Amino acid sequence: MKKYLSFFRLRFAMGLQYRTAALAGIITQFAWGFMEIMIFHAFYRADAASFPMHFSATASYIWLQQAFLDNCGYQCGFCTPGIIMTAKAFLEEHENPTEEEVREALAGNYCRCGTHYTAVESVMAYVQKRKEERQ
Ligand code: FES
Repeated sequence: MKKYLSFFRLRFAMGLQYRTAALAGIITQFAWGFMEIMIFHAFYRADAASFPMHFSATASYIWLQQAFLDNCGYQCGFCTPGIIMTAKAFLEEHENPTEEEVREALAGNYCRCGTHYTAVESVMAYVQKRKEERQ
Protein backbone atom coordinates (compact mmCIF):
# COMPACT_ATOMS: atom_id res chain seq x y z
CA MET A 1 0.00 0.00 0.00
CA LYS A 2 2.83 2.36 0.85
CA LYS A 3 4.46 1.99 -2.56
CA TYR A 4 1.15 2.75 -4.34
CA LEU A 5 0.74 5.83 -2.22
CA SER A 6 4.25 7.03 -3.01
CA PHE A 7 3.65 6.32 -6.73
CA PHE A 8 0.55 8.53 -6.76
CA ARG A 9 2.30 11.18 -4.69
CA LEU A 10 5.17 11.24 -7.17
CA ARG A 11 2.78 11.31 -10.13
CA PHE A 12 0.88 14.22 -8.60
CA ALA A 13 4.10 16.13 -7.93
CA MET A 14 5.35 15.58 -11.50
CA GLY A 15 2.03 16.66 -13.00
CA LEU A 16 2.01 19.76 -10.88
CA GLN A 17 5.51 20.60 -12.07
CA TYR A 18 4.50 20.46 -15.76
CA ARG A 19 1.28 22.36 -15.22
CA THR A 20 3.17 25.07 -13.37
CA ALA A 21 5.74 25.28 -16.17
CA ALA A 22 2.99 25.57 -18.81
CA LEU A 23 1.18 28.25 -16.83
CA ALA A 24 4.42 30.16 -16.30
CA GLY A 25 5.04 30.04 -20.08
CA ILE A 26 1.60 31.43 -20.86
CA ILE A 27 1.92 34.19 -18.25
CA THR A 28 5.37 35.08 -19.57
CA GLN A 29 4.02 35.43 -23.12
CA PHE A 30 1.26 37.79 -22.04
CA ALA A 31 3.55 39.74 -19.72
CA TRP A 32 6.10 40.16 -22.53
CA GLY A 33 3.46 41.31 -24.99
CA PHE A 34 2.03 43.76 -22.47
CA MET A 35 5.48 45.06 -21.54
CA GLU A 36 6.47 45.46 -25.21
CA ILE A 37 3.34 47.50 -25.91
CA MET A 38 3.79 49.66 -22.81
CA ILE A 39 7.46 50.40 -23.54
CA PHE A 40 6.64 51.27 -27.14
CA HIS A 41 3.77 53.44 -25.96
CA ALA A 42 6.02 55.31 -23.51
CA PHE A 43 8.71 56.01 -26.14
CA TYR A 44 6.11 56.81 -28.79
CA ARG A 45 4.58 59.46 -26.54
CA ALA A 46 8.03 60.99 -25.98
CA ASP A 47 8.86 61.38 -29.68
CA ALA A 48 6.33 60.02 -32.15
CA ALA A 49 8.25 61.29 -35.20
CA SER A 50 11.24 59.04 -34.59
CA PHE A 51 9.25 55.79 -34.97
CA PRO A 52 8.82 54.08 -38.32
CA MET A 53 5.70 52.27 -37.10
CA HIS A 54 2.53 53.65 -35.53
CA PHE A 55 1.40 52.39 -32.18
CA SER A 56 -1.58 50.53 -33.66
CA ALA A 57 0.71 48.81 -36.21
CA THR A 58 2.96 47.60 -33.40
CA ALA A 59 0.00 46.32 -31.40
CA SER A 60 -1.36 44.47 -34.45
CA TYR A 61 2.10 42.97 -35.03
CA ILE A 62 2.09 41.59 -31.48
CA TRP A 63 -1.40 40.15 -31.98
CA LEU A 64 -0.16 38.48 -35.14
CA GLN A 65 2.64 36.89 -33.11
CA GLN A 66 0.05 35.71 -30.59
CA ALA A 67 -2.00 34.14 -33.40
CA PHE A 68 1.10 32.18 -34.44
CA LEU A 69 1.57 30.99 -30.86
CA ASP A 70 -2.10 30.06 -30.49
CA ASN A 71 -2.14 28.02 -33.69
CA CYS A 72 1.35 26.49 -33.35
CA GLY A 73 2.29 28.33 -36.55
CA TYR A 74 5.93 28.72 -35.64
CA GLN A 75 8.80 26.84 -37.21
CA CYS A 76 12.50 27.30 -36.54
CA GLY A 77 14.17 30.53 -35.42
CA PHE A 78 15.13 31.40 -38.98
CA CYS A 79 11.77 30.88 -40.67
CA THR A 80 9.33 32.20 -38.08
CA PRO A 81 10.49 35.86 -38.02
CA GLY A 82 10.50 35.92 -41.82
CA ILE A 83 7.05 34.39 -42.06
CA ILE A 84 5.63 36.83 -39.51
CA MET A 85 7.19 39.89 -41.17
CA THR A 86 6.02 38.73 -44.61
CA ALA A 87 2.52 38.13 -43.25
CA LYS A 88 2.52 41.55 -41.57
CA ALA A 89 3.53 43.33 -44.79
CA PHE A 90 1.01 41.32 -46.79
CA LEU A 91 -1.83 42.03 -44.35
CA GLU A 92 -1.17 45.77 -44.46
CA GLU A 93 -1.95 45.73 -48.18
CA HIS A 94 -4.72 43.11 -48.15
CA GLU A 95 -7.69 43.77 -45.91
CA ASN A 96 -9.52 40.49 -46.36
CA PRO A 97 -7.28 37.90 -48.06
CA THR A 98 -8.31 34.37 -48.95
CA GLU A 99 -6.42 31.35 -47.72
CA GLU A 100 -4.99 30.83 -51.20
CA GLU A 101 -3.67 34.42 -51.31
CA VAL A 102 -2.04 33.98 -47.90
CA ARG A 103 -0.47 30.70 -48.99
CA GLU A 104 0.91 32.38 -52.09
CA ALA A 105 2.19 35.41 -50.12
CA LEU A 106 4.10 33.18 -47.71
CA ALA A 107 5.46 30.91 -50.45
CA GLY A 108 8.87 32.59 -50.40
CA ASN A 109 9.37 31.61 -46.76
CA TYR A 110 8.57 27.92 -47.03
CA CYS A 111 11.34 25.43 -46.46
CA ARG A 112 11.49 21.65 -46.56
CA CYS A 113 11.56 21.18 -42.81
CA GLY A 114 8.04 21.66 -41.64
CA THR A 115 4.40 21.76 -42.37
CA HIS A 116 3.30 25.18 -43.42
CA TYR A 117 -0.44 24.83 -43.06
CA THR A 118 -0.23 25.98 -39.42
CA ALA A 119 1.39 29.25 -40.52
CA VAL A 120 -1.45 29.81 -43.00
CA GLU A 121 -3.99 28.87 -40.32
CA SER A 122 -2.37 31.38 -37.95
CA VAL A 123 -2.61 34.20 -40.48
CA MET A 124 -6.22 33.29 -41.28
CA ALA A 125 -7.04 33.22 -37.54
CA TYR A 126 -5.55 36.70 -37.22
CA VAL A 127 -7.53 37.91 -40.25
CA GLN A 128 -10.72 36.49 -38.74
CA LYS A 129 -10.01 38.14 -35.38
CA ARG A 130 -9.25 41.47 -37.04
CA LYS A 131 -12.46 41.22 -39.04
CA GLU A 132 -14.50 40.56 -35.87
CA GLU A 133 -12.93 43.50 -34.07
CA ARG A 134 -13.72 45.92 -36.89
CA GLN A 135 -17.39 44.99 -37.03
S1 FES B 1 11.84 25.29 -40.35
FE1 FES B 1 13.22 26.90 -40.53
S2 FES B 1 14.57 26.33 -42.11
FE2 FES B 1 13.04 24.83 -42.05
